[in-house]
Amino acid sequence: MKSLKIVVAVFLYIALVSLISQNNIAADNEKENSVSNQEQKKPKTKYPGPPADNSRCLVCHANFEDEKLTDSHLKANVGCIVCHLECDSHCVDEDNLTPPDRMFANKGRVRFLCLTCHNWKELIETDKTKADLKDPPEHSSVLAGTNKDGKFCMDCHSEHKLSHRTRIWDKRTGKLVYKDSTPIMLKKQNEDN
Ligand code: HEC
Ligand code: HEC
Ligand code: HEC
Ligand code: HEC
Repeated sequence: MKSLKIVVAVFLYIALVSLISQNNIAADNEKENSVSNQEQKKPKTKYPGPPADNSRCLVCHANFEDEKLTDSHLKANVGCIVCHLECDSHCVDEDNLTPPDRMFANKGRVRFLCLTCHNWKELIETDKTKADLKDPPEHSSVLAGTNKDGKFCMDCHSEHKLSHRTRIWDKRTGKLVYKDSTPIMLKKQNEDN
């Protein structure tokens, strides 16, 4: 009789221990799932870390400092050079005759750059949940390349424009096609005199 009690006690003990450890495994799984869900919600960035340093570009492009698109991306360490590349020779050319390394000739095709980080399925979801906004998003038609009203990613998400031009390059070939009359360095000397 006594030995039967011991057997029952041992059995109950084993059952209890295995129940507790299973619960732990379930809790761990749940934790892992919720972490990976959270990670999936954020756009992937190949550039984790502190805010980007755009100061090299802002020396000449000061008007882009508070601009909507550059500001939201700067915080995620996506600086000018992620989209426009390093632009070394553009930066050091005091006459500003050398174009930046990457320009965008076709604003419809800009979406392919955006999609390297932003998930198109999530963008289409955004259309469904935000259809009642005053200016609702139109991601599905922009992504399909079928949007009719001529608005593309940059039209709704940026004020990323120069108010007037002193230089214009052919965006495909990089060839200078317009230059205002006086080279910038000369103008500066004249102003100083
Ligand atoms: C190198 C990766 C990368 C590229 C390329 C990129 N983005 Fe982003 N974008 C991000 C990250 C990272 C964030 C910050 C998101 C966050 O913190 O949740 C962001 C934020 C945004 C936001 C703001 C979301 C918010 O609620 O604040 C918009 C809008 C946006 N991007 C649009 C664009 C557009 C339009 C393009 C193409 C011109 C583009 N992005 C290209 C990585 C990128
Ligand atoms: C017709 C205007 C319009 C166009 C074109 C457009 N968007 Fe949007 N987008 C919006 C609006 C509106 C929101 C919602 C903003 C809000 O909630 O304040 C949004 C939200 C976003 C967000 C944040 C998503 C979130 O989780 O809230 C990202 C990233 C984004 N758009 C990227 C893009 C990209 C990339 C393109 C080009 C493929 C694009 N958008 C084209 C209007 C537009
Ligand atoms: C998320 C990507 C992205 C980032 C970050 C970004 N740009 Fe751009 N930039 C673009 C795209 C795309 C265009 C083309 C705009 C268009 O076709 O409407 C552009 C156009 C420009 C233009 C030409 C505007 C015009 O009127 O023709 C200048 C100048 C410029 N960017 C400077 C900068 C500077 C300086 C920074 C950093 C402070 C920066 N960009 C950061 C994507 C980016
Ligand atoms: C020495 C001054 C200087 C520096 C530094 C500089 N830029 Fe520029 N950039 C210019 C000038 C001048 C223009 C022509 C703008 C105009 O028409 O007035 C220009 C034009 C541009 C354009 C527009 C091209 C187009 O027509 O689509 C882009 C993009 C650009 N710069 C990106 C950058 C980036 C990115 C950096 C930093 C890595 C940078 N620039 C640093 C002087 C500079």
